[in-house]
Amino acid sequence: MGTSKYPLAHETTRDAVLAAMEVGFRHFDTAALYGSEPPLGEAVAEAVRRGLVASREEVFITSKLWCTQCHPHLVLPALRESLRKLQVEYVDLYLIHLPVSLKPGPPAFPAKREDAVPFDFEGVWREMEECHRLGLAKAIGVSNFTTGHLDKILAAATVPPAVNQVEMNPAWQQRKLRAYCAEKGIHVAAYSPLGGQRWSGSEGNAVLESEVLAEIAKARGKSIAQIALRWIYEQGVSPIVKSFSKERLKQNLDIFDWELTDDDLIKIAQIPQKKIVKTADGIFSTEGEFTSVDLSDIEILEE
Ligand SMILES: NC(=O)c1ccc[n+]([C@@H]2O[C@H](COP(=O)([O-])OP(=O)(O)OC[C@H]3O[C@@H](n4cnc5c(N)ncnc54)[C@H](OP(=O)(O)O)[C@@H]3O)[C@@H](O)[C@H]2O)c1
Repeated sequence: MGTSKYPLAHETTRDAVLAAMEVGFRHFDTAALYGSEPPLGEAVAEAVRRGLVASREEVFITSKLWCTQCHPHLVLPALRESLRKLQVEYVDLYLIHLPVSLKPGPPAFPAKREDAVPFDFEGVWREMEECHRLGLAKAIGVSNFTTGHLDKILAAATVPPAVNQVEMNPAWQQRKLRAYCAEKGIHVAAYSPLGGQRWSGSEGNAVLESEVLAEIAKARGKSIAQIALRWIYEQGVSPIVKSFSKERLKQNLDIFDWELTDDDLIKIAQIPQKKIVKTADGIFSTEGEFTSVDLSDIEILEE
């Protein structure tokens, strides 16, 4: 279950996580940036109190290191702060949120272009490994990394990244990246599996408004969301889907006792491709200049 929502409401988020646990969700995705660590932590503690789960160990928590802390000396303090907010002793998975390093400071979104600085892949990954060695992160990984960024991490790694969490759905299928990750033994997790939330307004949703998916959904008596999530699952990828509605949460889990047909898969393979999140206009403000990095080094779109 994804927990990112803007603006974030503490109680709504906590109650949605509890509702998700009631219907069976066990993996919760958060990040320092989202502000959802405190309500998620509160929900997990409450779930244990209510007996929804026997203990915190039954829940899988992923959190992420924000770009302003992508500096070797800030990695461990950032994780400790996330653990404090989550009220837990460890996270199950800790990810570098983006292959982007910003000048240290409080998180600001969108970021200023002139705040981007060269990413110390070796130094930052060494400290991620330290988080793992200390048992504060059971597994470590990355998010939004292209094959080029992964090459740099793998060249420096003693512990390779367990996971790369990237935008993936039927309208952005990530074939090249998935083939690379399969070869290197890196598990892929899919964010925005339903085409994401409309962060920037007017553009349509390439998944929920897809005619191809609508046709398959109708023929199979499923919702479009279920077709998208099932397709991701059949690729061996873990979908991370956000819903704060109990009905839709239930629907999003009801994908395990049926399959897509070969004909469905052929149709889905032909869906036109369009990525939502890009570096220059998604993460950074459109104003200002990159003064210390080349945009090509931090671009997260890979054809
Ligand atoms: N690593 C990264 O850089 C990164 C980037 C983006 C997201 N993420 C993570 O991935 C999670 C999921 O991605 P996302 O939040 O961008 O979007 P998403 O999961 O693709 O889409 C969520 C949107 O679809 C709606 N929805 C959910 N289930 C539905 C259903 N069955 N039928 C129709 N609509 C449905 C939700 O609204 P309701 O709540 O009203 O149901 C929500 O507005 C995030 O919450 C976050 O944890 C990570």
